[in-house]
Amino acid sequence: MTLYDLVAPAIEARCEPRYRIAGIRAADPLGADATVAAVPAMNRDADIPALTVALRTLVPDHDRTASLSVVDALAAVRDLGLLLGSLKRHGVEPLAAVPEALPVLQELARRTDMVPRDTVHHYTTWNPLGDRQRMYTGEQMEGHLQNAVRMVFPALVAALGTCDELAGLEPYDPRFADALDRTGQHVQAMVDSIDFTVAQVSPEFFARGLRPYFEEIDVAGRDYLGPAAAQVPLWLVDLTLWQSDRSSPEYDAFLDESVLYSLPSWRAFHAAHRGSTSAVSKLSAAISWESTPRLPPVLAASAVSAARVLRILKTFRARHIGIARKAYSDELRLYDAGSGGAPIALLRSVLDLTRDNETLVRHANVRMHAPVPASVPASTSGPASRASAPAPLREKRLTP
Ligand code: HEM
Repeated sequence: MTLYDLVAPAIEARCEPRYRIAGIRAADPLGADATVAAVPAMNRDADIPALTVALRTLVPDHDRTASLSVVDALAAVRDLGLLLGSLKRHGVEPLAAVPEALPVLQELARRTDMVPRDTVHHYTTWNPLGDRQRMYTGEQMEGHLQNAVRMVFPALVAALGTCDELAGLEPYDPRFADALDRTGQHVQAMVDSIDFTVAQVSPEFFARGLRPYFEEIDVAGRDYLGPAAAQVPLWLVDLTLWQSDRSSPEYDAFLDESVLYSLPSWRAFHAAHRGSTSAVSKLSAAISWESTPRLPPVLAASAVSAARVLRILKTFRARHIGIARKAYSDELRLYDAGSGGAPIALLRSVLDLTRDNETLVRHANVRMHAPVPASVPASTSGPASRASAPAPLREKRLTP
């Protein structure tokens, strides 16, 4: 037995197959490349018989299903999923039309430890690029939306690591601000993504051309949502920053549903951190205990870094709600709720919560502890004007 033989199982156990993106994209375990390439044309023609035959043809038998690795199983769900969403778009409940797909989806869910249908990760991150790209419509805007989600996956995986560090730190520790700063760098990808989306995807195309493919399907009597961008796990960052103990019942309910569609390690992260003391609560408690006019520099730095990340989250959400409102306006919308199962009102309330937490941290630092500069006239030295007065703590800018 070599040293490698001893170490390899431990490496394999630590290595997350769901992060083997190139391998999953390259995999074609059902020999589906040619069939899925024809799906946009079948959808254009609303050719339900062809879509039904295509799904039936792709469904593997029991032995084949049981032999798939996790990487292959994820690719198999991706390809079956394209047909599930396509049939549903044309009004057909896919597992009623092709019942032999049900045990296969259930077995693939067991093997991958995920829901028994495709998620946003199957549709975007695990979807091949170029000629082999799986699409419902084949339209360029669909490809842009897929790319918008693809570009945030690595950043959010990295943010999971920095948030995990953050959860174990206190605001008096210089590593607290450092973990927040690195989280902020990762989360910036969400802003870039939504800017790209707004520039490249029209609300009309989303509302009329794409949204119908993301409807829920019935799997053994239970509805499962389609591969919605709302499943992008930004909540991983919210959770540690503020959501664990400063949320609302609506956002909690939305997350409880969204978490089901995420990767096993992220669900474990959610279970470990839900209900714990968030970074904002730790900061707020630490600041309120300080009695000196100025915060200790390390605490001030923690507050500035927290405000900066919250501001990036707020920027994403403010721009995101703009396009979401247009796509779900009275003139355009075909559905009342988003493809993630929630209405626009949820986006408004999550944006408000993000903003409230940012304001809390920013004001706790700047307004309550910054000295009033001598040049400010006495008549304008009340709390409101202090908030906007230049102060030493603001030298480190809050804007990204
Ligand atoms: C045309 C483009 C888009 C529209 C119309 C849209 C619409 C919506 C709607 C209506 C919701 C509410 C929940 C639900 O879907 O049921 C939502 C949630 C969400 N969407 Fe989008 N979305 C778009 C693009 C994106 C993109 C590109 C991303 C990220 C890369 C994204 C990330 C999210 C996230 C993280 C949520 C959960 C709520 C939050 O964290 O604020 N969306 N979206």
